Amino acid sequence: MALNENLRLLPQRTMRSILISLSHRRALARAAVRSPLTRPIVARFVAGETLQEALPAILALKRAGLHTTVDVLGESVGSRDQAAAAVDRYLATIAALSERDLDPNVSLKLTQMGLEIDRACCLENVLRVVEAVRGVSGFVRFDMEDHTMTDATLEVWRAAHEAYPRVGVVIQAALRRSSADVDSIIAAHGRVRLCKGAYDEPASVAYRTRSAVDANYARLMERLLVADVQPAIATHDPRLIAKAISIVEREGIDRDRFEFQMLYGIRRDLQRTLIDRGYQVRIYVPYGTEWYPYFMRRLAERPANVGFMVRAIVKEEGRRLKGH
Ligand code: FDA
Repeated sequence: MALNENLRLLPQRTMRSILISLSHRRALARAAVRSPLTRPIVARFVAGETLQEALPAILALKRAGLHTTVDVLGESVGSRDQAAAAVDRYLATIAALSERDLDPNVSLKLTQMGLEIDRACCLENVLRVVEAVRGVSGFVRFDMEDHTMTDATLEVWRAAHEAYPRVGVVIQAALRRSSADVDSIIAAHGRVRLCKGAYDEPASVAYRTRSAVDANYARLMERLLVADVQPAIATHDPRLIAKAISIVEREGIDRDRFEFQMLYGIRRDLQRTLIDRGYQVRIYVPYGTEWYPYFMRRLAERPANVGFMVRAIVKEEGRRLKGH
């Protein structure tokens, strides 16, 4: 049976788990990054490997009326030096955005700042980025990683948010704990980006069906909108977006009190529709060479391109093993 046929027969949930587990495989990452075959698919989701490549994409989004938040790709660094290098890349990015009059708004992952190495070192690194963002009146958002990082991420967020209020964090509707987390962030006047959650989490901590995740998303979204804490509604799901619009219309919430957020390259039609209707939309723009785990999570969300991707990697690995 052809590879594509086999892939189609896998239940979506199993496919998602496989892809998320492959996202942690460094050997595959090396093969994928080297393969020219993966480039065209990756380019749909990643604005470039360098800042120079990403800047025109960010400028084009601005010209189209979209706001942006820039992610310098990277996560789970293995050393303090790698974390320091990631900080430097963020500082250069913030400076370049500000010089060009582009949104000095960035998103980062705390494991990229050394969270798994040493929490104090991570906080130090994060505060360097926060200082740079404060210097240009910008904004920084801490992405949320898998559930083993949630407590530590929120702890570092609290410290950074005390230093500078324009530091936001992400909450995942998939996690059972998120209702309590949203309440405590609202109490601290923190800014939440609400997303469904991109990781394959166990049932002990997460809702595992689409309907349960969506229902929790709708509940948390309503709480955040009504609390008037400038939430970011991060989803491409038309039903949840329609629900958000019905809440803001019912409650008379101004359009500058919240924003929609979407990922670079996904549902451009919907991005346009929302802008045309007068809503604020911010696009999450990732760039950098460390795109593999980010890309695999995007595949896991919609496995349509998986057959092509897997064939490309297998071919590349086969060549490598034959010594070509
Ligand atoms: P859903 O998965 O139901 O998709 C709805 C529709 O959107 C699909 O039917 C399809 O049309 C389209 N779509 C969604 N994903 C697609 C893809 N990869 N390729 C093509 N089409 C796709 N997660 C996390 O755990 N931590 C984080 O910090 C963040 N940060 C973040 C920032 C922003 C701005 C966004 C938009 C999302 C995140 N996420 C995230 C990812 C999030 O958790 C979730 O995995 C994705 O947004 C997909 O879920 P949707 O809400 O779009 O719904």
